[in-house]
Amino acid sequence: MSRRPIIAGNWKMHKTIAEALALVQEIKEAAAGCDGVEVAVCPPFTALAPVVEALRGTDIAVGAQNVHWEDKGAYTGEISPVMLRDAGCRYVIIGHSERRQYFGETDENVNRKVKAVFAQGLTPIMCVGETLAEREAGVTEKVVRTQTEAGLAALTGEQVAGMVIAYEPVWAIGTGKTASDEDAQQVISFIRGIVAGLYGDSAAGRVRIQYGGSVKPENAAGLMAKPDIDGALVGGASLEAASFTGIIRAVV
Ligand code: G3P
Repeated sequence: MSRRPIIAGNWKMHKTIAEALALVQEIKEAAAGCDGVEVAVCPPFTALAPVVEALRGTDIAVGAQNVHWEDKGAYTGEISPVMLRDAGCRYVIIGHSERRQYFGETDENVNRKVKAVFAQGLTPIMCVGETLAEREAGVTEKVVRTQTEAGLAALTGEQVAGMVIAYEPVWAIGTGKTASDEDAQQVISFIRGIVAGLYGDSAAGRVRIQYGGSVKPENAAGLMAKPDIDGALVGGASLEAASFTGIIRAVV
């Protein structure tokens, strides 16, 4: 089954509005004609609407980096799926390890957010991945299974088929250490197997599963050549147009 790879830039807590607009202008020009791959940028909340406006008329999608599961209410400091849809987002990153590690994000919250995002017609990019200690303890599959099963609970097969899962080993994020092509393929194929067990072969064959963790233009082609890896969730290298488009070009 052929799946269109998706390269998404997770800008994390970087870029003012002016900086964001300058970056998307460069990405827009440099990524023109890269039709075999879907491209998305995920700026901080403050830059979402201006970036959506700047990308209007292009195929580059915009995503948010987090969301609350309620549509509205007394939740000071939170942003709802309704607001993200209103701002023009298509994607929402959910359950990034930095949210799990620093902000107490649980598997249960991840699942609530995934369902809330679908209810507004947005697409989740749900992150899973083990820490270094977990990898060294030999429990990578157990951790990834728990996160995946909990995050995908009570969805429909069609929803799962249409979403994106990002496998991001925590030890490879921002460290310059990338999982080997084989290790990334092995865990991502394991995740696809979990989806098959839960939602059947059709959903498993259609869901796109990205790799994330120190992806750069130099290592992207090898990772993306693996049969189960459907793109990348890129942190540091997405903050410069040259490196981000270098990754996009490594895939097409
Ligand atoms: O979500 C992307 C991510 O956490 C990877 O970050 O800087 O290692 O590419 P980085």
